[in-house]
Amino acid sequence: MKVKNICCIGAGYVGGPTMAVIAQKNPNINVTVVDLNEKRIAAWNDDNLDNLPVYEPGLDAVVGESRGRNLFFSTAVDAAIDAADMIFISVNTPTKTYGVGKGMAADLKYIELCARQIARVSKSDKIIVEKSTLPVRTAEAVKNILDNTGNGVKYQILSNPEFLAEGTAVEDLQAPDRVLIGGEQTPEGLEAIQALVDVYASWVPKAQIITTNLWSSELSKLTANAFLAQRVSSINALSELCEVTGANVDEVANAIGKDSRIGPKFLKASVGFGGSCFQKDILNLVYIAKSYGLDAVADYWEQVIIMNDHQKHRFAANMVRTMYNTVSGKKLAFLGWAFKKDTNDTRESAAIYVADKLIDEQANVVVYDPKVTDQQMYSDLDYLQTRSSEANQNALTVENDPYKALEGAHAIAVLTEWDEFKTYDWQRIYDNMHKPAFVFDGRSLLDKSALEQVGFQVYVIGQ
Ligand code: UDX
Ligand code: ADP
Repeated sequence: MKVKNICCIGAGYVGGPTMAVIAQKNPNINVTVVDLNEKRIAAWNDDNLDNLPVYEPGLDAVVGESRGRNLFFSTAVDAAIDAADMIFISVNTPTKTYGVGKGMAADLKYIELCARQIARVSKSDKIIVEKSTLPVRTAEAVKNILDNTGNGVKYQILSNPEFLAEGTAVEDLQAPDRVLIGGEQTPEGLEAIQALVDVYASWVPKAQIITTNLWSSELSKLTANAFLAQRVSSINALSELCEVTGANVDEVANAIGKDSRIGPKFLKASVGFGGSCFQKDILNLVYIAKSYGLDAVADYWEQVIIMNDHQKHRFAANMVRTMYNTVSGKKLAFLGWAFKKDTNDTRESAAIYVADKLIDEQANVVVYDPKVTDQQMYSDLDYLQTRSSEANQNALTVENDPYKALEGAHAIAVLTEWDEFKTYDWQRIYDNMHKPAFVFDGRSLLDKSALEQVGFQVYVIGQ
């Protein structure tokens, strides 16, 4: 079969960019992205492409090319489901915050709601594509709901995990390392797989489109993220050892990365990984392993998270220790709040946890980030439930001008690797700070010796 109408439920960081690229590369397919969040849909439809709700380099051009032609954003969820022959589910699957599996398992309530809505509305056969990262065997639950609550129409469920990284989403979508499609190994299942292969084959070479059974596809996504996060925790573990022995973690990473079996990517020591996927997916993996009684497997992967938490805490503790064991009443300026550069996403960003620790120490934290809004920063802190919203408002200030943020500060913490930080006038910044002036570079982004020449006392992660 040839797909003519695609609906995507969920217009977030995954659904929005993915559908924009599918629509760009398939002008003959109508793609409608729906969301319950009216503000989000209005932003996707904003005439000014600078106001899209997701910041990604190059995304404005891709949306501008297809929007209104074959790419639509709407809140009319039922109508889009009804019209579609293929439905992507791209809703959020956060870690559960209540009940059984609290703090570990994925909360599938949004997925279940989607499945029930599809079952209620559909009057013709549909292919359902799981795009959100899901625990293994979710497809079975979705199929069960569809088959038992539907109007007698037939469904095929596919798993098509998204491997894009935020900040490089458009690049990753336009030239993916691979596309993975899992489905049932029955004639109908294979036909559905082929229909989705054809959508991607408009721009992805066939050799890079991998097809598997459903469970392999679902588990591959968790595994890919677990392996990537493990590399970051491994290099971060070594960063602490480097600091006490006099080795330089960047030099170690460079030396080991030249081994073609290890490779150079994902070896950058940092204040800790963030993002919506790594922690959630590993916790999920740990939960699944535990639920099968595989405690050694669960403990092995859990260590990746434990190391990451340790890295965030030791960064904050080191700031306090270096500043004579007290930061009470001191102005500490943060450069960056997003979990990595080139995104406005802050989910699980290390900056949130570092700020929380320093606020506990009664510091005045001032933040500058080129893309993150102040409401987002306050809501991130409130989400931790460490203290009242009012207390967070009093302890944290947001500045839109970096030089103002840094003026009069006792220390600067670099928490996101935004390129623009490297271009600042560091002499001017030093002149306007309290002395001694400290820089705590959690991304090894800045030129340490240049800063030292200006007069700063510099700490770089892993050095
Ligand atoms: C990740 C996966 O890369 C992607 O394939 C999947 O679809 C979603 O999860 P994302 O979280 O968007 O993507 O960004 P990624 O580039 O993987 O970075 C995750 C975190 O690890 C960031 O906080 C980043 O700063 C940190 N990181 C990454 C390091 O600290 N060091 C590194 O060497 C690489
Ligand atoms: P991701 O990073 O996985 O894309 P986001 O939180 O950015 O996650 O996006 C998920 C989107 O899915 C949100 O905008 C949310 O409003 C939307 N959503 C969740 N459940 C439904 C639903 N039942 N119908 C429509 N949209 C939904």
